[in-house]
Amino acid sequence: MRKDNILTAIKRLVLFGMLVAGINPSFAAQTFQSNEMGLSKESVFNIPTPPVYHYGNTPPGASKVMPRAYLNAPPQVPHDISSFLPITTLSNACVACHSQRELWGKKREPATPTPIPPSHYTDLRKTPAKVGDSLVNARFNCNQCHVPQTNARPLVENTFSGKRK
Ligand code: HEC
Ligand code: HEC
Repeated sequence: MRKDNILTAIKRLVLFGMLVAGINPSFAAQTFQSNEMGLSKESVFNIPTPPVYHYGNTPPGASKVMPRAYLNAPPQVPHDISSFLPITTLSNACVACHSQRELWGKKREPATPTPIPPSHYTDLRKTPAKVGDSLVNARFNCNQCHVPQTNARPLVENTFSGKRK
């Protein structure tokens, strides 16, 4: 056999092997550009400086509560919280304003902190049917679930409506 023929035979064998293994030879040849590999429009090898985002600076009492994302979603924080952070064991300004059990079941008045709801006084693991006297520690770090919003634009369109079809 001549050298060319041997090479052609090897190529055929490799292609046959790929087909048997389920690998599409045309796919194997497909390449991606470095700017097609992520959500970023840039090459994945670039390290762009992230844009600076701003949180609102409306103080509590002057903001408007935001619509819930879906039923039972934690409401987003509509006001500035920069001077209340970090939340520590010794200092939790959120509780100071929002712990208002006497407002449970009453009509909401403007510029009044929404009271921390009964669910946050309920130990869902041990005594799920009993509303306790004090805030359950699992709810102490409010910003774990309640977050303020920035002016960041979503990277991808979000069509979630939160409503059942
Ligand atoms: C000085 C009092 C005060 C402090 C401190 C405070 N809030 Fe508020 N908060 C308010 C008031 C008043 C409102 C109602 C909206 C308004 O009038 O600005 C509110 C609204 C909210 C809402 C929206 C509730 C709803 O019904 O949708 C959330 C969530 C919230 N605050 C979370 C927090 C968190 C988390 C912290 C701590 C990081 C905090 N707040 C600190 C007074 C306060
Ligand atoms: C583990 C998550 C979690 C943590 C931590 C948490 N919350 Fe919530 N919060 C929720 C969810 C979920 C809801 C909506 C369902 C409900 O009312 O229980 C809610 C509702 C609320 C509401 C709205 C009540 C109403 O009647 O509309 C307020 C106000 C609130 N939380 C304040 C706080 C504050 C202040 C803290 C910190 C002391 C806190 N939450 C910690 C999850 C959390």
